[in-house]
Amino acid sequence: MQTGAGNSAEPREVAAAAIVDAGRLLLAQRVSPPHLAGLWELPGGKIEAGETPADGLARELREELGVETVVGARIGSDVPLAGAMVLRAYVVELKSGTPEALEHAAVRWVDAEQLAGADLVPNDEVWLPELTALLESF
Ligand code: C5P
Repeated sequence: MQTGAGNSAEPREVAAAAIVDAGRLLLAQRVSPPHLAGLWELPGGKIEAGETPADGLARELREELGVETVVGARIGSDVPLAGAMVLRAYVVELKSGTPEALEHAAVRWVDAEQLAGADLVPNDEVWLPELTALLESF
């Protein structure tokens, strides 16, 4: 086991939010890097050292969308990323504010049919079954 400061066996986490409101899921359109620009993702970002995933994801959503949220259960499987990072999705409840594209090109709400036709970033496509089931449960 590695225990040194700043040296962990755990991969760094990138957390992504499945925000569902009124039966629709929030998607955000990336501006970078060039090969992902224009594609849609679940908003989120890197969890910083010392943050819980829930606190870090809520911070990212405050920065990216200007909203207050409550981070709930994990959804879908882990997606390995380059650089010893792992991408994880969480069901997130919107508490206050209207999501704005503060760091994205745009945001939009989609129903299950629109989600199926959306140009998602490849990593997030693996969650389509769970996201569709989540939408259909509301
Ligand atoms: O948004 P940011 O660039 O901080 O994300 C870090 C990494 O996680 C990037 O490689 C990005 O493509 C990936 N990511 C993803 N799906 C998301 C959020 C981030 O694949 N919903």
